[in-house]
Amino acid sequence: MQRRKFLEALKAGNKAEAFEAADDIPANPLLDCTIGTMIAARYGRRNVLKGTLGVSAAVSLFGASAFTAPRHAHAAAPTALSRYAFGELDWGIDETHHVAAGYDADILLRWGDPVTAGAPEFDVMNQSAEAQLQQFGYNNDYIGFLPLNAEGTRGLLCVNHEYTNEEVMFPGLGRQDKAGFAGMTRELADIEMAAHGGSVVEIARGTDGKWTVVRGSRLNRRISPLNTVMAVSGPAAGHSRLQTSADPSGREIIGTLNNCAGGMTPWGTWLMAEENFHGYFWSDETGTDGEPDASGHPEAPKLRRYGAPGNWYAWGKYHDRFDIRKEPNEVNRFGWVVEVDPLDPFSTPVKHTALGRFAHEGAEATLSADGRLVIYMGDDARFEYLYKYVSNGSVSQDRAANSRLLSDGTLYAARFGPEGTLLWLPLVHGQGPLTAGNGFAGQADVLVDARLAADALGATPMDRPEDVSPRGDGTAFVMLTNNSKRTPGQTDAANPRPGSDFGHIIEIKEDGGDHAATRASWSILVQCGNPAIAAVGAQWNPETSENGWFGSPDNCAFDAEGRLWVATDQGRKWDRTGKSDGLYGLETEGALRGHSKLFFRCPAGAELCGPYFTPDNETLFLAVQHPGTDGTRNLQGFERDSTFEDPATRWPDFNPAMPPRPSVVVVTRQGGGKIAV
Ligand code: FEO
Ligand code: CA
Repeated sequence: MQRRKFLEALKAGNKAEAFEAADDIPANPLLDCTIGTMIAARYGRRNVLKGTLGVSAAVSLFGASAFTAPRHAHAAAPTALSRYAFGELDWGIDETHHVAAGYDADILLRWGDPVTAGAPEFDVMNQSAEAQLQQFGYNNDYIGFLPLNAEGTRGLLCVNHEYTNEEVMFPGLGRQDKAGFAGMTRELADIEMAAHGGSVVEIARGTDGKWTVVRGSRLNRRISPLNTVMAVSGPAAGHSRLQTSADPSGREIIGTLNNCAGGMTPWGTWLMAEENFHGYFWSDETGTDGEPDASGHPEAPKLRRYGAPGNWYAWGKYHDRFDIRKEPNEVNRFGWVVEVDPLDPFSTPVKHTALGRFAHEGAEATLSADGRLVIYMGDDARFEYLYKYVSNGSVSQDRAANSRLLSDGTLYAARFGPEGTLLWLPLVHGQGPLTAGNGFAGQADVLVDARLAADALGATPMDRPEDVSPRGDGTAFVMLTNNSKRTPGQTDAANPRPGSDFGHIIEIKEDGGDHAATRASWSILVQCGNPAIAAVGAQWNPETSENGWFGSPDNCAFDAEGRLWVATDQGRKWDRTGKSDGLYGLETEGALRGHSKLFFRCPAGAELCGPYFTPDNETLFLAVQHPGTDGTRNLQGFERDSTFEDPATRWPDFNPAMPPRPSVVVVTRQGGGKIAV
């Protein structure tokens, strides 16, 4: 009865009634909660439907002076009331992580921790691909959390493993160069591959409020580019440009690469975004520009548009499919969004070609006014575009049918107008310039060559679009991390600073508050960087403290209270702010709009990924990626590149026999309760 009511309400376009009905329908035998409650938790249903937002130690391995955090005079408390109820953290950089007073930030999962049943304990001096395939991978990035019971005390963490840092993973290895690592072997390359991909890990919260890993859970799973078979859906599935000698069908791909951010769908599947796939493709020849040479490839100009081959890894020496000359179409099989059902550890992940092929930073889902699926996606490279995907059908209680929504819909690229207007341009074959005469023989070409299609449509080249967080009221916040290559002549209203080292954040308001709209308005929420240096051109709420401003926004998330949180990744250029990467609460409304507060900061050399709040807002999961690596030559008291033997920090173990380990951190309030409320 409830199910029929749900479907009838959806069909009638009554989202409010549909979601009310959905609350009482079990979604899956494994889930005590429902798709309705998941939607409510993720998209702030009740607030949205009302048409309003719910505004609702480590031991030092160095001398004491090496990483002493600077002390700062606290700025006066803002005169308007902050929606983020915590005492702001002092900025700085040292060998460990820090969280605001009154919170615990505990290590939950580290690179090498056993994941699957029977996984061996981590032995860093005797690593193998076989062991790594059963252990938590490297460089945790996106984190999703899927509750397994109504109380939210059991759940699945879905974690991307973006890439590997060999210099601190393996003993005795040299620094990275364009030809891979000195000393690289087939065995090490296979360990690298096994450390990429993703992990599904069951976790449980005890009566003490602490989360622990359920070791050996039958739901625990590792996904890797080494051995995980994936299917292909959508208009490019089976297309000749996806066919290889190992897969003449063009419908079966081994693995996924460079999974950066991602998203969770309303029906509880996990979207893994394939970002810098070009770096994994290989050429053993060098062009006149000193870069790896693509000229022998049948689609060389298209490869160059995507930056391939990058020769970041030596996999092509040992696996022919990553050598662009030996297997020219393999490069077309990466750069997609992959859907994984974490509830079925034997399910086949699916690459959804309808969402286009580019350097997908993330894939955050929301719903249109009539219940269709909308996914916002940044293409993280300089002068690349912002995209969104709108399904043709609506989300229902049928999980299998919902996944088909990712095969049948329209991909759009954004054109930002100078007057704060935005036009979503459809990437549809036969419309406008997307014709055979212009090199697009069909929709498969439009999607495989999405960057070229967006070029032809006149989308706006952006300052590296990263994560996008949509809110249920038709608003979305776009992280634009930086773009040092933009010249004064290339600036525009939406990318106003030349040589931007610090990035900015744009707010998009879709027409009618509907995420499926094809027109929107936009405004700049903040221009990042130090507001005390006029030449930086930063724009913050004037009440923002010395601790609160940041550079290079990357990942972001809304919590269950409808508040935006922003994580930073300054890369090697962290010294331009002098601050470690961290997590900030950023006001989006009212008198404090554009006011930011520092809540958590990373150890030296790390970037912060995640973040993800549980539906009850009592737990925050954070992914600390590549600790001890980025820009350590500029780290006062260290001033050299990190290696396995000599890293800038041994976070989080601080064991002299263990290098730094990327880890998931779980933040909870001491004594219990919601975060920052
Ligand atoms: Fe993998 Fe755009 O960060
Ligand atoms: Ca990122």
